[in-house]
Amino acid sequence: MSGKVHIMDHPLVAHKLTILRDKNTSVKDFRELVSEIGMLITYEATRDLPLTTKTVETPICTAEEPTLAGKKIAVVPILRAGLGLVDGVLRMVPSARVGHIGMYRDEETLEPHLYFCKMPKDIAEREVLIVDPMLATGGSASAAITEMKRMGCTNIKLMVLVAVPEGIQRVQTLHPDVDIYAGAVDSHLNERGYIVPGLGDAGDRIFGTK
Ligand code: PRP
Ligand code: URA
Repeated sequence: MSGKVHIMDHPLVAHKLTILRDKNTSVKDFRELVSEIGMLITYEATRDLPLTTKTVETPICTAEEPTLAGKKIAVVPILRAGLGLVDGVLRMVPSARVGHIGMYRDEETLEPHLYFCKMPKDIAEREVLIVDPMLATGGSASAAITEMKRMGCTNIKLMVLVAVPEGIQRVQTLHPDVDIYAGAVDSHLNERGYIVPGLGDAGDRIFGTK
């Protein structure tokens, strides 16, 4: 059985994504929106976090109320563009640790190349949320998931802003245990491997490198 695909069905996400897609949106606004949408998708991606209860003294009485069971979480951005989402995740889950995985796509072959990896020591014990704005061919995300599994991780989710069916299918085929959380699913890839309509090169737009 394949992992589930959770598509954000929310007017705030849809509205913010439309501004991101606009080629005239400034680097500053683009960066802020990536972070905000990241925060909103994190809300959905953490829906299954286990709760326990604790005793609190309210001004009125003593009550037994829900609190997070303290599951250990790591957010893992795929460099570079994934860095833009880290802040939004950490605003929702401030105790999460951060691991970094560097991956770039060869512009000719579109194949991913791993160039950096630095994880928290106890990464194998953590629930891992891999973040990247774009799921295009799915090569980078699939390779990042493979790398996390090689390090012993067994509980992995993937969070992206924009996906296409090709990329979703690749991840689902290679990693049927991984759920995907996406802001939107677009039409297709163009001949250069860019998402259509998409938002262009996410890394360049976040960091202003073009
Ligand atoms: C982009 C994006 C993903 C990848 C998606 O990164 O951030 O990591 O492409 O494409 P794929 O699904 O076909 O692998 P890029 O390689 O451009 O590197 P960057 O983040 O450093 O700009
Ligand atoms: N990577 C990007 O940054 N944008 C795309 O459309 C596809 C891959």
